[in-house]
Amino acid sequence: MGIEEPDHTRHGRSGRPRRTESGFPVEPVYGPGALTGWDPAERLGAPGAYPFTRGIHPTMYTGRPWTMRQYAGFGTAAESNARYRQLIAHGGTGLSVAFDLPTQMGHDSDTALASGEVGKVGVAVDSVEDMRVLFDGIPLGGVSTSMTINAPAALLLLMYQLVAEEQGVPPEALTGTVQNDVLKEYIARGTYIFPPGPSLRLVADTFRYCAAELPRWNTISISGYHMAEAGASPAQEIAFTLADGIEYVRTAIGAGMDVDDLAPRLSFFFVARTTILEEIAKFRAARRIWARVMREEFGARDPKSLTLRFHTQTAGVQLTAQQPEVNLVRVAVQALAAVLGGTQSLHTNAFDEAIALPTEKAARLALRTQQVLAYETDVTATVDPFAGSYAVESLTDAVEKAAVDLMARVEARGGAVAAIEDGFQKAEIERNAYRIAQETDDGERVVVGVNRYRLDEEEPYEPLRVDPAIEARQVARLARLRAERDGRAVNTALAALREAASGTSGNVLYPMKDALRARATVGEVCGVLREVWGTYEPTERF
Ligand code: 3HC
Repeated sequence: MGIEEPDHTRHGRSGRPRRTESGFPVEPVYGPGALTGWDPAERLGAPGAYPFTRGIHPTMYTGRPWTMRQYAGFGTAAESNARYRQLIAHGGTGLSVAFDLPTQMGHDSDTALASGEVGKVGVAVDSVEDMRVLFDGIPLGGVSTSMTINAPAALLLLMYQLVAEEQGVPPEALTGTVQNDVLKEYIARGTYIFPPGPSLRLVADTFRYCAAELPRWNTISISGYHMAEAGASPAQEIAFTLADGIEYVRTAIGAGMDVDDLAPRLSFFFVARTTILEEIAKFRAARRIWARVMREEFGARDPKSLTLRFHTQTAGVQLTAQQPEVNLVRVAVQALAAVLGGTQSLHTNAFDEAIALPTEKAARLALRTQQVLAYETDVTATVDPFAGSYAVESLTDAVEKAAVDLMARVEARGGAVAAIEDGFQKAEIERNAYRIAQETDDGERVVVGVNRYRLDEEEPYEPLRVDPAIEARQVARLARLRAERDGRAVNTALAALREAASGTSGNVLYPMKDALRARATVGEVCGVLREVWGTYEPTERF
């Protein structure tokens, strides 16, 4: 067997100019000419200063490493609570809750729609009772918790606050994030419930509630990750995410909020791919664009309103089921891209996640990857080490230009919601996804172990198996809750919520909290809102 001639270009065909994931050419050599006329003061600024290209804090990781926040959750609240305790014991510095699909879609575990999905891709939470078990033994005043929940984000936030109140945690000490980004659910992922109008009303009510009641809570995690996983390029990922961000800010201002009351608590969520140089450029470009938009379009004055704070997850779509241990290397490279790009919080995927939910050992290895980066390398020794790099500054400018052009195309359609209803973002992403698939199928795009360097026979791997009895246990818990609670109090509270949702001015989170405290379920609360607001029916365009 002859030695396979290594190809000298990323896509296996020599002679063609290499192109970035965003589609523009990469120079084989960048030199001083790349930065001719380039003004560092205007393009970079100092770390922690406008336009924040170099990072949102003057000291960045030299002051505090990023939060190691591993996304986890499966089965009932008790199973997930055990995994959270394991992650904290292994050195995790933030929590991140994955909910099962019935919870994400606002259905109770004992409904026909939920059957077969209870506790499967995340933890089942039907009521404040489950939320209490989920955080049993975890002091909520001493941890920041992210909850990946969108359409019913307000409900899960309120149940989290109710449990914190039971623990005696004052509201000003409570910190964490709800994803609460329903616009990207219409574009990718699909866990929406209500039409865009009522969904944006609920988001604005959540912003106003947090501004009044939970000053340290991050009200939204405007996400590009799922669009990237659906096939978006880096430029599309930040363009469509920032365009969603603009829509949310406009909505909140339209609901009477001042931009500096809401912007400091916005946050973002991006992917990290193995194309490390373009990813570093992507994060730096995103910070610079957002700072300019917040200052020039919205007139924000508070420096905290101008900073793009973000969480990163390594690209799940790049994990392979073939030779799964190779994913350890991919995740390490992706995590390095996120860190060199200045992420505030990071989730590293487990190497076996292309096969099943991560085993405890795989989850531990994923966290260890972050700890090696933080404590065995020098990436925390200095801020934004690529500043001034001929290549990375050129790539940052190029990604910024491509993203700004795309944002203008969204704006020309009337903004993110109008463009979503027009199917624009989805069509653009699908076009890019198709290109990636074609390049992979014809071997231009190398996927080690899949279309090159394959094994004749894959080695066996024993994945984690979720106990099928979990659904029955959760349904029994729900039956007990309904039997033991004060049904009259629940119905009274749900009626008050219905009245508030039928109006246009009241903040629905206050009657919603009363209902959840009375142990109304996620399905009952969302059921009232479905009755009043209806549900979203996508208008597919081909
Ligand atoms: N100098 C000064 N202060 C610093 C500092 C420095 N170098 N570094 C950090 N700090 C401060 C911060 O300002 C902050 O202070 P504050 O509490 O007064 O605001 C504090 O230290 C904590 O720092 P961060 O807020 O930056 O870090 P957090 O980890 O708490 O928050 C976040 C990060 C991005 C703002 C937040 O929104 C977050 O945690 N997001 C996580 C989102 C997430 O985990 N999503 C998971 C999605 S999984 C999914 O979608 C499903 C699947 O399909 C992928």
